[in-house]
Order: sequence, then structure tokens, then C-alpha cells
Amino acid sequence: MGIQFSVGGYAYLHVGFIFLGVLGFCEAGLTSSYVRNNGLSQDMPLDSDVFKEPPGYNAPQQGHITQGDHEGKGVIVSWITPDEPGSNSVLYWPANSRIKKTAHGVVVKYTYYNYTSGYIHHCTIKNLDYDTKYYYELGAGNVTRQFWFLTPPQPGPDVPYTFGLIGDLGQTYDSNRTLTHYELNPVKGQTLLFVGDLSYADSYPLHDNTRWDTWGRFIERSAAYQPWIWTAGNHEIDFVPEIGETKPFKPYKHRFFIPYKASQSTSPLWYSIKRASAYIIVISSYSAYGKYTPQNKWIENELPKVNRTETPWLIVLMHCPMYSSYVHHYMEGETMRVMYEPWFVQYKVDVVFAGHVHAYERSERISNIRYNVVNGFCTPITDDSAPVYITIGDGGNQEGLVKEMTQPQPEYSAYREASYGHGIFDIKNSTHAYFGWHRNQDGFAVEADSLWFVNRYWKSIEETSVAVK
Ligand SMILES: *[C@@H]1O[C@H](CO)[C@@H](O)[C@H](O)[C@H]1NC(C)=O
Ligand SMILES: *[C@@H]1O[C@H](CO)[C@@H](O)[C@H](O)[C@H]1NC(C)=O
Ligand SMILES: *[C@@H]1O[C@H](CO)[C@@H](O)[C@H](O)[C@H]1NC(C)=O
Ligand SMILES: *[C@@H]1O[C@H](CO)[C@@H](O)[C@H](O)[C@H]1NC(C)=O
Ligand SMILES: *[C@@H]1O[C@H](CO)[C@@H](O)[C@H](O)[C@H]1NC(C)=O
Ligand SMILES: [Fe+2]
Repeated sequence: MGIQFSVGGYAYLHVGFIFLGVLGFCEAGLTSSYVRNNGLSQDMPLDSDVFKEPPGYNAPQQGHITQGDHEGKGVIVSWITPDEPGSNSVLYWPANSRIKKTAHGVVVKYTYYNYTSGYIHHCTIKNLDYDTKYYYELGAGNVTRQFWFLTPPQPGPDVPYTFGLIGDLGQTYDSNRTLTHYELNPVKGQTLLFVGDLSYADSYPLHDNTRWDTWGRFIERSAAYQPWIWTAGNHEIDFVPEIGETKPFKPYKHRFFIPYKASQSTSPLWYSIKRASAYIIVISSYSAYGKYTPQNKWIENELPKVNRTETPWLIVLMHCPMYSSYVHHYMEGETMRVMYEPWFVQYKVDVVFAGHVHAYERSERISNIRYNVVNGFCTPITDDSAPVYITIGDGGNQEGLVKEMTQPQPEYSAYREASYGHGIFDIKNSTHAYFGWHRNQDGFAVEADSLWFVNRYWKSIEETSVAVK
């Protein structure tokens, strides 16, 4: 299980690296032997319970919320009214008060080939109190609907907080199982980090956008009550020039508003938020990211801004994984890895979550940044400053699981399994967080893979101060 190098002439130089490498990979990676059925997942039919429209004329539907500012004191509430614009306001009040306030939003609409959307409302509520339960009400007249959410605690180093992770969800029976398992997990996710590929409406003829509406109704039972933090995937691009649809991300950008300006971003496809003890950076695998591009510039300016005293946990979300040992989509994330991996190591990112590959995989802490085209060092090595890369594209969409893996399992791959599921990233304090991967075939509380995370930034500070003493 030694590290292999392609340039034999440098063999004497490599001894040190081989030693380092083997030290880090003292246990071989694991490929789970779980055997699942081969059937493709089926989309739930249009008349399924989860797609039911709420009763009443022009009733607000597809409610969902996301963070509405950079710090966590704001919430963006979005919903759709099918028949007419209706009320654009959100009535909201803290659970312990009867004083109601009103926030006003905007309404947008779009067409896609011969589809016309309903009235899509987005309303940002600002200056909420931290760590507080709020009720909110949508609609007007006789048809109003009430929901609630909890604001996060003020950002700070030792604020415990629990994030859920779902990717590539779609709207199959398996999607419904994944969401149900997330909801019934005894460790309650407080905010969901969604790593892209939402509705899979684009799998239908003409990208039938009514499947965006069914998806909106399906996720409402969770997304109207806790923020879903969005990442765009390839199934959000909806670029079909043959039918005149030439604006990438049109349905996605109309349906999901992102607080990107609060992080000085110029696009909703890349942005950052602080939430409790975490700093979350979302990037776009399907927008230009090379040197001199807007996204590249933004990330370069963004990473040095993160104050690890305030938010110790640095989490990056993207759709296409930079490390994946499955055959499907193999090396699709390679060009982005070349651009951004050096920064992830330099700034000690704790964990990078991605989707896209419909399976689960967790890497060791490794990097592949010493390779410079001519030195032959093209194999990842143990790197204590590197993030763990987790692929969690196993939400359950209609394309099914990818089961074919590259063989043998690369040394950098710690665990891989093609099963549907979700993750929980449970931050305990500034130094410790616990990650668990939950498979749909197990009981709600069972973890098929888990790992204690020790914060990269605070770990290295501790090591340095010990060395100084
Ligand atoms: C859109 O066009 C397709 C294909 O011609 C057709 O099946 C569908 O019913 C049309 N939808 C609407 C809303 O007109
Ligand atoms: C509410 O419903 C009642 C009874 O159906 C009806 O008389 C009234 O006009 C409705 N009000 C509004 C604002 O729609
Ligand atoms: C989806 O899951 C929910 C919660 O478990 C259940 O009530 C509902 O019947 C399921 N719907 C379908 C179509 O599987
Ligand atoms: C970082 O955050 C801490 C805690 O909130 C604060 O005291 C400190 O001033 C911040 N540092 C910078 C450079 O802003
Ligand atoms: C942080 O949490 C871990 C895991 O629960 C615990 O072992 C450790 O003592 C905590 N650290 C502090 C400073 O409380
Ligand atoms: Fe994807």
C-alpha cells in the first residue's frame, strides 16, 4: 500500500514522502460490501401526497427559507401563489410576543419554453433576534398559512450547532425516504446544507418546470421551517438553446434567492454566510472559476476574511467533488481542484462537502498540491492542514446510485459506499465536531460512517504553542 511515483529517477528523494504517506494511511480505506437492489428510483407520481397543493384559492405554496444576511439575523422567505400575485408581505412575530411585524418582498415570474411560472415571492426579514423562535404567516384573506423557524445563536467560537447535509435529492420515493430519515434522525439538524442538484425537472421533456413546482411542495415540510443553504448543481443549469432557453440557471435563480450581496459577491452562485460557529463558503462548479474570473477573485478575497476566533469552523460547499474515486464523473472536479486546493490547505478549511456523484465517500486528510507538471509527484499525500472531502450526492434522485468504483480503492479514500442517505455535521465547540453518515436502509439513529473532526485552525495553534513551550 505504498504511494506510487511515476518518475523512478527521483526514487531516493521519494523515500521521505513514502514514509509520510504510509504513516497517514495506517488503515486501508473501506469499500462497503452492502448489496442493494438494482432498480432505478422512480419519481413519485404527480398525485402523490407530498405534491398536494394547499387548499384554498391562491393559497401560498412551496414555502422555503434560507439565511437572509451574512450574520444570521436575517431570513429570506420564498413562496409561490398560483393564480394571482396576492399579498407580498410576511407577517412575523417572536414566539413569546404578540406584537406582529410586517416585511414586504418582491414578486417575480418567468417563462420556460411553453411553461409559465406562478407568482414567486421573496421577502427578506432583517434584524431578527438571535436564538429565537419566530412564527410567520403567508397569504391574505381567508387563505393564510403559518410556519415557524429558529434563528441561530450569535456567531461565536463555542456555539454548538448542527447542520444536516443532503445532495442530489430529486423527487423519487428514495428522495422522500432520505428527507424522512433526516427529519426523524434523533440528532436534529438545525440548518440544511444542500450541495446541489435539486429537483431534476430537467430530466423531463422540455425540462418540464411543473416538476420544479412539485419539488417545491415536496421539500416545504422541512424547508419552510429551517433554512436550506443552496449550492447550484449541473441540474440547475437548464441551458437548452434548441428550445430558446439560453440563460443558464433561469428557473433556479428565479425560485431561490440568495443573500450573496452581503458577502460582496456579484452572483448568487457563489457566496458566504456565518452561522453560529461556522463560516460557510458556497462555490459554483458550473461558473467560470479560473484565474481572473469574478468567482476566483471573490474566493481569493474571501478566504483571508474568515476570522477563526469568531467562527472556528470553515466549511466549503460545491457540487462537483474535487476528490471522488467512483467511475462515473471521474476527474470532473480536477480543474477546480488545481485552482482551489492550494487555498483550501493554506486557509485550513475543515471540510469540503460535494454532491454530483450519487453515492457516499469520505477522504483522508490529503492534498495533491506539490505536483507541478514536471516533478512526478502526482499522488495525494497526507496533509494535516487539508480538509476532509465528503461526497454526499446520495439524496435519491431518479438517475439512481452509481456503483462502479475505481479499483483498487485509492489510499486517500477512507470510506465509500453506494447507498442513499444524509449526513449530520454536529459542531460541539471550537475544537470538536462530529460527522455521521446515515443510510436510508438503516434505522434513523444508525451511522454507517462517522468521524470526529478536530478543528484545523485551532489544532495548529495548539501545536504551535506546545512547540514554543
Ligand atoms: C408544452 O409543449 C409540450 C410539447 O408540445 C406539450 O406536451 C405540453 O402540453 C405543453 N405545455 C403547455 C403548458 O402548453
Ligand atoms: C372569506 O370567506 C367568506 C366565507 O366563504 C367570504 O364570505 C369572504 O368574502 C371571504 N373573504 C375574503 C377576503 O376572501
Ligand atoms: C413520503 O414520506 C412521508 C413521511 O414519511 C409519508 O407520509 C408519505 O406518505 C410519503 N409519500 C410517498 C409518496 O412516498
Ligand atoms: C475576530 O473575532 C473576535 C471575536 O469576535 C474579535 O474579538 C476580533 O476583533 C476579530 N478579529 C478581527 C481581525 O476582526
Ligand atoms: C469540546 O468538545 C469535545 C467533544 O465533546 C470535548 O471532548 C472537549 O472537552 C470540548 N472542549 C472544551 C474546551 O470544552
Ligand atoms: Fe450533478
